[in-house]
Amino acid sequence: MTDQEPIIRLKNVTKSFDRHVVLNAVSLEVAPGKITVIIGPSGCGKSVLLKHIVGLMRPDKGKVFFEGYEVSALGERELVPIRQQIGFLFQGGALFDSMTVEENICFPLTENDGAWADEAARRQRCHEVLTLVGLDGAQHKFPEEMSGGEKKRVALARAIALNPKVILYDEPTTGLDPIRADLINELILKLKNALGNTAVVVTHDMQSTRKIADRIVMLYQGRFIADMTVDTLGRVDNEIVARFVEGRASEEELAQLRTGRVEGPANMQS
Ligand SMILES: Nc1ncnc2c1ncn2[C@@H]1O[C@H](COP(=O)(O)OP(=O)(O)OP(=O)(O)O)[C@@H](O)[C@H]1O
Ligand SMILES: [Mg+2]
Repeated sequence: MTDQEPIIRLKNVTKSFDRHVVLNAVSLEVAPGKITVIIGPSGCGKSVLLKHIVGLMRPDKGKVFFEGYEVSALGERELVPIRQQIGFLFQGGALFDSMTVEENICFPLTENDGAWADEAARRQRCHEVLTLVGLDGAQHKFPEEMSGGEKKRVALARAIALNPKVILYDEPTTGLDPIRADLINELILKLKNALGNTAVVVTHDMQSTRKIADRIVMLYQGRFIADMTVDTLGRVDNEIVARFVEGRASEEELAQLRTGRVEGPANMQS
């Protein structure tokens, strides 16, 4: 049996901000119909990597492909049909504050060259995706009237509204209570199993990772340092990866905590 062609491919992608090299010749092939989870410490470049897949950021060096198209070489107009196939749940949600929940969710539908010209059809789709995230009835609320977790679920509903082939989830369960987080895990699995969606999930949530991942890669200091499955997660021999997976700080990190003061200013005497 031959492996399927990757649906997303990053080839030696390098990206720096000022002189800070965030991605250092990173390569990744994402298999279609699978859930690839990217883990790694805060600030290591996970969100930056996702933005390269939809052409929101361009590599300094290297190439990014989606289904054989070189995303990193396409102009804004040529990127439109590609972006229609990729749902993106942004880390901060990125809802439009001046729009209602329904308007936010229908926005990508109205942008979609006429296929969703019928308003009743758009409303129906909005009702469907809000039902999937457990928020049907919130259509006429504004983002500021909702909790952080609710906003995240609206953003997720918007990301899946167009039935995209690929969904990029940037921390889908962060800020959700454990039950809601589990429902989002189930939804990610359902979209894969029922619709054959490909997913790339950036997360710090190891419980979620264990539940949904077909493959787990770890980004660290500009490179991928581990390529694992749920089965191999518990027996990695790389100390950095093992500590991350187990949520265990290093001796040096603990030493910093010991030498730093946790009490108030020294001149505050009782
Ligand atoms: N637009 C930008 N301009 C300048 N620097 C940026 C920009 N976007 C990201 N960076 C820098 O790139 C690095 C990686 O950022 P990124 O948002 O990808 O981290 P992350 O791995 O997603 O972290 P977290 O887990 O905290 O979300 C950080 O040092 C960040 O400051
Ligand atoms: Mg991030």
